[in-house]
Amino acid sequence: MSARTSLIVDVDTGIDDSLALLYLLARDDAEIVAVLSTAGNVPTSQVAQNNLAWLELCGRTDIEVAVGAAGPLSTPLRTTEDTHGPQGIGYAILPAPTHRPSDRTATQAWIDLTRERPGELVGLVTGPLTNLALAVRADPALPARLRRLVIMGGAFHHPGNTTPVAEWNISVDPEAAAEVFAAFSEVPADRTPIVCGLDVTERIVLRPEHLRRIAELSGSTPVETIRTEDAPSTRSATSNPVVRHLSDAVRFYFEFHRDHGQGFIAHMHDPFVAAVALDPDVAQYRSATVDVETEGRITRGQTVADWFGLWGRPPNARVALDTDPDAFLDDLVDRVATFARTVDRAVKGSGPEA
Ligand code: RIB
Ligand code: CA
Repeated sequence: MSARTSLIVDVDTGIDDSLALLYLLARDDAEIVAVLSTAGNVPTSQVAQNNLAWLELCGRTDIEVAVGAAGPLSTPLRTTEDTHGPQGIGYAILPAPTHRPSDRTATQAWIDLTRERPGELVGLVTGPLTNLALAVRADPALPARLRRLVIMGGAFHHPGNTTPVAEWNISVDPEAAAEVFAAFSEVPADRTPIVCGLDVTERIVLRPEHLRRIAELSGSTPVETIRTEDAPSTRSATSNPVVRHLSDAVRFYFEFHRDHGQGFIAHMHDPFVAAVALDPDVAQYRSATVDVETEGRITRGQTVADWFGLWGRPPNARVALDTDPDAFLDDLVDRVATFARTVDRAVKGSGPEA
């Protein structure tokens, strides 16, 4: 087994954040040190509830969940239930969690954990950067203590998904993103943050066939195929609880993409960025100085990359521009299916060998 990567995972759980959590739980070379909840797809309290519920479903109540700020640094919170469902997990109705968030805030957790384990932890942010920005404000030495920072956010040579030029995570809290990019301008070159924007994440196209394969490989029955012609009330009846709830979550996302002219598919941004956090070699990058527009009347939230040093500022980002989507999706299917089977056996008490 390769050396384990220890991660602080900061999410706005959401449907693709949910699959990112499952994927990381499925990776035996990953240690999730804490799951931090940031307002974005849904309000912070719902994000935290989703995090607690997924972890409890998977038998991982040992992992800390912390609750973050109620909203962005200086702008009113916007959420997107139309994209991720009323609770942020599509049609899934997870068993109510019985364990609770930790007493410390997400911001304090960023500070404490990086002080306890300087140079060891990888920060993975798949939501707005509010809590990391608050942590860096409170502790400017934090960036130098992270082993690596990997962000799902931005759009570079690619249209936005929230405005014509802005991607959701950045658009929710542009001030936070600008502060984080600025704060990480001074870290050593080998720790320059990795930024995965829509350029690469919208190439990660999950399809119903992927869900079918996960069900089949996990031994879940019946093996269902989510279809665009299904009645909106259709819900999974497959036996494996992880597969069943994931299927109900992703069905909502398929419908959202279809209803917005993108086909009956789902762009799985966050699970891919989780894979990058564990192994940056799965993507190819270009170095740039990235800043965020916060004043523009029609460009607020845009991530701007200076590829040629025109601003005279040091590079502060390695922007992901290419990857092998099929290789990642095959890995995702295999690992999540195996993990779902393991969880189901543990729940049934039949043990991993059965
Ligand atoms: O723009 C896509 C990103 O915004 C994803 O992380 C999704 O979960 C939402 O947070
Ligand atoms: Ca997200």
